[in-house]
Amino acid sequence: MPVLAIDAGTTGVTALVVSDDGRVTARGYQEFTQHFPRPGWVEHAPEEIWQATLAAAGEALAAAPAQPTCVGLTNQRETAVLWDRERLSSPRRAVVWQDRRSTEVCTRLREEGREERVTELTGLRLDPYFTATKFNWLAAHDERSWSGVTEGRVAVGTVDSYLVARLTGGARHVTDASNASRTLLYDIRAGGWSAEMCELFGVPMSALPEVVPTYGEIGRTDPDAFLGLDLPVAGIAGDQQAALFGQTCFGVGDSKCTYGTGSFVLVNTGSDAVGAREGLLSTVAWQHPDGSLTYALEGSIFVTGAAVQWLRDGLGMIDTAPQTEALAQTVPDSGGVVFVPALTGLGAPDWDPEARGAIFGITRGTQRAHIVRATLEAIAFEVRDVVEAVVRASGHDIAELKADGGASANNLLCRMQADQLGKPVARPVIQETTGLGAAFLAGLGTGVWGSTDELIDTWRLDQRFTPGTRDDAAYTRWRAAVERSKGWAAL
Ligand code: G3P
Repeated sequence: MPVLAIDAGTTGVTALVVSDDGRVTARGYQEFTQHFPRPGWVEHAPEEIWQATLAAAGEALAAAPAQPTCVGLTNQRETAVLWDRERLSSPRRAVVWQDRRSTEVCTRLREEGREERVTELTGLRLDPYFTATKFNWLAAHDERSWSGVTEGRVAVGTVDSYLVARLTGGARHVTDASNASRTLLYDIRAGGWSAEMCELFGVPMSALPEVVPTYGEIGRTDPDAFLGLDLPVAGIAGDQQAALFGQTCFGVGDSKCTYGTGSFVLVNTGSDAVGAREGLLSTVAWQHPDGSLTYALEGSIFVTGAAVQWLRDGLGMIDTAPQTEALAQTVPDSGGVVFVPALTGLGAPDWDPEARGAIFGITRGTQRAHIVRATLEAIAFEVRDVVEAVVRASGHDIAELKADGGASANNLLCRMQADQLGKPVARPVIQETTGLGAAFLAGLGTGVWGSTDELIDTWRLDQRFTPGTRDDAAYTRWRAAVERSKGWAAL
């Protein structure tokens, strides 16, 4: 009984067909346009995300040896989407999680002394990363679109709720608890929307989706809307929580790092919503069908793979991302070059929306390979910063880090990571763990798998990278460079 997983990521949509022994039997992928209307702004056209979903799913289904019996969905989180409840069209482009335009909203609320209460209720912080700050900005600056929200014609949500609306032909307006917990509007301990936060951010509660458990049937696809298919939608999770599930991190203390556009380290904290500290976030990992919640502590790094993408698309320095591995190995080290990829500000653990990217230490001897190597090193340094914060905040050591996501295929990066952490890095055979997690959730929700133990049995190691010598001088230079990149956009 195969499962169709849709992973609507930041740069494209991946669809996987996963068999009941946990193998990926078919895949489809479709990229969509990134809009950068102003420095620091990032937008997506919702209709294009939907069309990419149809294309990716169509490609996967055409290649699948057997047709799926249910659908799981995972998504880029926090992105703010508006759509017409009847027509399902959007009055404007979505404001993406990386977008920094709502910095002013956060500054104002912080000056009003609101941050402590916001963190206590939501586990998050006042940062433009989170959805409610974007809604608040839209209410003030895009009156035409927002009037539809206050009049009740236009629904608001994150990418998961928009796609469920499209998949079900408008029948369902829902989100799951893992996505809800990224909005700044969800009370993570009470497990529901917070009237206090909705009022603070000026979001009408009636415009928000119903919060449903992360797995279990929540609706059916509409054959007229979705490739002629009438299937249960039985799993929804934010992509980082889905990756934690896909890596079968079901025990307290189990952790993973997903190397995608950004990199996100999550550690399972069980039924305990560990208070946000050390620049980390407290978040819902998943909600079980009985309503109980499992939590995670998260370190969110905004730009890792996106820095490699920028070397390719912004600078034309490389042709493909995998090329970085061979190129970086043509030099023994970065020649003193340090790249701080704060291209959309800094997330964990430094949190500075006004930091900007910087390359330090360039000399006349600096070559392309040094900059490429410095980019891979930066990813390893960023993840080290966050893992060390996780260990301090959780009080648990991390014995080894499970790695997944596109850039985890880069052996040099995994070696650098193990060296910097001083801990092994374990890479599974299936690195598309976000999609796999969505498949696991939907399959668990419909009885394809009977328990999480069956899922654990499907996890297979591809390679374990053991730590070698670590260059602490390079790390000291990295921290000095991070400090120098802060506040740049405010100058
Ligand atoms: O919080 C943002 C995250 O969900 C984006 O993930 O995989 O698109 O980088 P990704």
